[in-house]
Amino acid sequence: MYCIRQKNDLSLRELTCSQESLEYDANYPRSHYDRLADDEWTRLTNSRRGELNLLVHLDVLRQHITADMDVLEIGAGTGIYTKELVNMSRRLVVADLSKVQLDLNQEHMRELGVVDLVYEYRVLDLVDLSEIDDSYFDAIVCVGGPLSYLLNKAKVGVQELIRVVKPGGIVILGVMSLISTLIRFMGSLVQEKDEIGIENLRWVLQTGIQDREHNPGREHYCHMMTCADVDSLLKNEEIEIVERRAPGLLSLAPEEALAQVREDDELWELLVERELAWSRLPGTLDLGTNIIYVLRKSETN
Ligand SMILES: C[S@@+](CC[C@H](N)C(=O)[O-])C[C@H]1O[C@@H](n2cnc3c(N)ncnc32)[C@H](O)[C@@H]1O
Repeated sequence: MYCIRQKNDLSLRELTCSQESLEYDANYPRSHYDRLADDEWTRLTNSRRGELNLLVHLDVLRQHITADMDVLEIGAGTGIYTKELVNMSRRLVVADLSKVQLDLNQEHMRELGVVDLVYEYRVLDLVDLSEIDDSYFDAIVCVGGPLSYLLNKAKVGVQELIRVVKPGGIVILGVMSLISTLIRFMGSLVQEKDEIGIENLRWVLQTGIQDREHNPGREHYCHMMTCADVDSLLKNEEIEIVERRAPGLLSLAPEEALAQVREDDELWELLVERELAWSRLPGTLDLGTNIIYVLRKSETN
């Protein structure tokens, strides 16, 4: 039995869950993303909400990835960031758990004429990077939530990322945000309660974990996190937190309102400027669509 209690949450009852329910099984995320296939390519460009999220991610990449770096992009999906990273880095290795996603990534990079700039494509699971030597890469990009799928193996995933980056190297890590997801899907909450029951819903909201036991009949298992969860995963690791960002903070606004702003170039530019600035404020961290941590591995490692 797995018992969870979050620090600083006085309203929490003691929550329990069977160990098997939290067991990471690569087949679930793999088949989920095999099924989503190329829908992923437009996931951040088909809405203004997505666009704001994308712009903060790009800002973070531009700030931390430089032309002298060998970079691993893991959980790369169809290549939304690959197409940027190929031009920002020296050598780029693109990896994903899903071969379908990796093939689509290759196809998109070929269409864009940059496939030859990718050093290598590799099917890799974040929980097992044993094919890669210690301290191999200058930087690792793992954004959009791959870590959120690892459930009881999340700490192993974090340690693998830190192991394969050089001392002094950078890890850009992004997870799905629990609070922002809840706000966004508030309109489905009554239906959700009808489908899984109040106690299962309580578990999901208090822990952020959508597991087998509390989501009967579903197959999308993941851990939507708060920054407290990320902090706890990073505890005792030999890293420094360089910065934390809340991409998609202003994406909490209704899509129709954002679309209206988008039509006015001046206004959109102002909004993007605010999104980029406010996504740095510590008080906004849990309100972005994702939560990004930029880590530097200790030089002494
Ligand atoms: C939401 S997508 C993000 C894709 C891309 N990074 C982006 O932000 O657009 C999550 C990706 O992580 C991959 N993934 C999930 N679990 C993984 C794991 N354990 N190891 C490697 N990749 C994983 C999925 O196949 C999927 O392509």
